[in-house]
Amino acid sequence: MPKCTNCGFIFRYDKCPRCGTPAPQSGIKNAPAAPPPLAQKTDENKSELNQFFEIVCSITTTSDVDSVLKKVGSAAEKLTLTMASSIMLLDDDGKNLYFKVASGDKGTILTKLKVPVGEGIAGWVAANKQPLIIQDVSVDARFTGKIDSESGFKTKSILCVPLIANDELVGVAEVLNKIDGSNFTENDKAILTSLSNFAAVAIVNAKNISGQQNFFANVFEILTTAFEANDKRFSGHCFKVAQLSTAIARELNITGSHYKDIYYAAVLHDVGFIAEPEYSILEHSSNRVHPIKGYEMIKNINLLKSAAGLIKYHHLMYDGSGFPAEGLKKEAIPVGSRIISLVEAVEDMRFSVYPEEKIRQTVESQKGIKFDPVIADIYLKISE
Ligand SMILES: [Fe+2]
Ligand SMILES: [Fe+2]
Repeated sequence: MPKCTNCGFIFRYDKCPRCGTPAPQSGIKNAPAAPPPLAQKTDENKSELNQFFEIVCSITTTSDVDSVLKKVGSAAEKLTLTMASSIMLLDDDGKNLYFKVASGDKGTILTKLKVPVGEGIAGWVAANKQPLIIQDVSVDARFTGKIDSESGFKTKSILCVPLIANDELVGVAEVLNKIDGSNFTENDKAILTSLSNFAAVAIVNAKNISGQQNFFANVFEILTTAFEANDKRFSGHCFKVAQLSTAIARELNITGSHYKDIYYAAVLHDVGFIAEPEYSILEHSSNRVHPIKGYEMIKNINLLKSAAGLIKYHHLMYDGSGFPAEGLKKEAIPVGSRIISLVEAVEDMRFSVYPEEKIRQTVESQKGIKFDPVIADIYLKISE
């Protein structure tokens, strides 16, 4: 198949359907090309296959579900040679479809619309979990035209397939109007179905990740409530430590998994007190066991493995004093631990009702001794 010399679009006809540039080596205007010889047909199939794999590769290396769905929509248009596409997802109560991705100028208008399951073409596909090809919507009673009247797009033909993951419907995908006015084929249906499978997997993965995050957030809350309950005056300590620690981490331009580790470690830094019920949590700066206990408690949780190491050293000072005494000092101590140890010391002083100015003076005087000088300077800057 020729590739447009202007926009790169691959097409079968005498001129590019996207920008109108004539096909290379084509002198024919406004007429379909003659059927290609067998060798050329094989090349076309290879090119189509290469295009498909390139698109699949691009989709599977994208982790953000919105980007995956946008790529699936534009890939579906490109590979089925159609004018528009949309992806609708099933809402939580399973009664309506809502537009997640829609191409064209009015795409954002469509994202506000809902389609009841069972109504219209998309609703029929959702209700029956069956793909549907309609070559002429004007003679199909299921076509309501409601979406066209909102978008201003004139639908002539539709190919719509269900998005199914683990035998459950998650939405539908559709492409509209073949660019050359021809009929949708079984090949088009197979292409859209294959692409939709990637979309369905991405949606289910995103839901699982969000479910896990929700689970962890709640487990964290239960854990912190459990050990903060040791003394009412301790209430909120863990989240205060997390707030200040992550603020310092951001100033240090720490991002990604390192940033998450610092957040998890800061929230759970005193979790070891659960194993030390005979101690008041207010003694935490003198209780030498809780960092090790906390480390032991969470080191086998894959998600928290790196955070566990930070918890272990959250009472180790920059000069190597504090605990556990393993000979680590200065930059050999993980940066997350250096941050939390300063924040823990600040919070200790607040428990002792030190005025903020006195806390700042102490941090200043211990810069480079008990506290990492860079982290101390950041604290002094953001606490002004
Ligand atoms: Fe603490
Ligand atoms: Fe602690």
